Amino acid sequence: MHDYQLVDGDSTVYRDGSIKLHTPAGFEGMRKAGRLAAEILDACAELVKPGVTTGSIDDAVRGMMLDAGAVPATLGYRGYAHSSCISINHVICHGIPGDKVLKDGDILNIDVTPLVDGWHGDTSRMFYAGEPSLKARKLVEVTYECMMLGIAAAKPGARLGDIGAAIEAHANSFRYGVVREFCGHGLGRLFHDAPEVVHAARAGTGPELRPGMFFTIEPMINLGKPWAKVLGDGWTAVTRDKSLSAQFEHSIAITETGNEIFTKSPTGRDCPPYV
Ligand code: MF3
Ligand code: CO
Ligand code: CO
Repeated sequence: MHDYQLVDGDSTVYRDGSIKLHTPAGFEGMRKAGRLAAEILDACAELVKPGVTTGSIDDAVRGMMLDAGAVPATLGYRGYAHSSCISINHVICHGIPGDKVLKDGDILNIDVTPLVDGWHGDTSRMFYAGEPSLKARKLVEVTYECMMLGIAAAKPGARLGDIGAAIEAHANSFRYGVVREFCGHGLGRLFHDAPEVVHAARAGTGPELRPGMFFTIEPMINLGKPWAKVLGDGWTAVTRDKSLSAQFEHSIAITETGNEIFTKSPTGRDCPPYV
C-alpha cells in the first residue's frame, strides 16, 4: 500500500510518492540543518518588537543563512521570493515579509528553512510583539502543546494518523479549530515530500511509522473555525472568520526507540515568552 525507499547519504531522490527511510548520513545532515534553523529562530527572538517591519526580520534571516553557508530553501521556491514566512495574528501561514510594521500585542509565526549541504531544516515558532492578550497567549501555548503531543505520538510501529489524532483531541478540548488545508510533510534532500502529515486524523490510520522517516509536524490552530482562504497574492493564508491563528513546526526523525527532534532550540527558546 505504502512504498518505502531506503536513501543512503547523498543519493539522488525523487518526488515519486515513496516514503524515504534514511541512514545515519541523513541524520547527520539533518542535525546540522535543523540546528542552524533553530539558531536562526533563537536570534529572531531578539528582533521581534513593536515598530519593526517583517521585511527587516526576513533580511536578517537571509543574512544569517548566507553567513552560515546555507541557502534559504524558500527563495525561488514555486516563485516565492523571500527567506522566511512571517504570519501575523489571523494569518495562518505563508505570510509574505515586507513593509508591515509589528505592533504591540501582535502574535506572529516565523518559519525558516535553511538548506545546508543539501538537507532541509524546516521549523517555525510563535513570537510576541510587546504584550499580547491572555486569549492570544493561551492559543499560542496550546498550539505548542498540540505540536509536542503530536511528536510524542510519533514512534516506530505507530501510524501516521496517530499524530493528527493527538493534535486534534487537544485542540478540540479548547474548542479551537485545526486547519486542514496545510499539512506537515516528509523532508530531507527534498523540501516537501511524502508523506502528507495531516494535523487532524483518525488514530490507527495511515502509513506505519518506521525508523529513518523524516517529516515535519506543523499544526496550525485557530481560535475560531478551522476554515482557511488564500489571499490574492497567491500565498497568504488567513482564517475565514478573522480569528487568531498560531503555528509551531519541528522537523523530526523516527528512530528505533521513538523520535529525534532536529530543530530544538539549543537555548530552550522553543515556545514564548522568550526571556
Ligand atoms: N516552510 C514552509 C513549510 O513549513 C513552506 C514555505 S514555502 C514558501 O512547509 F514558499 F511559502 F516559503
Ligand atoms: Co514545513
Ligand atoms: Co516551515
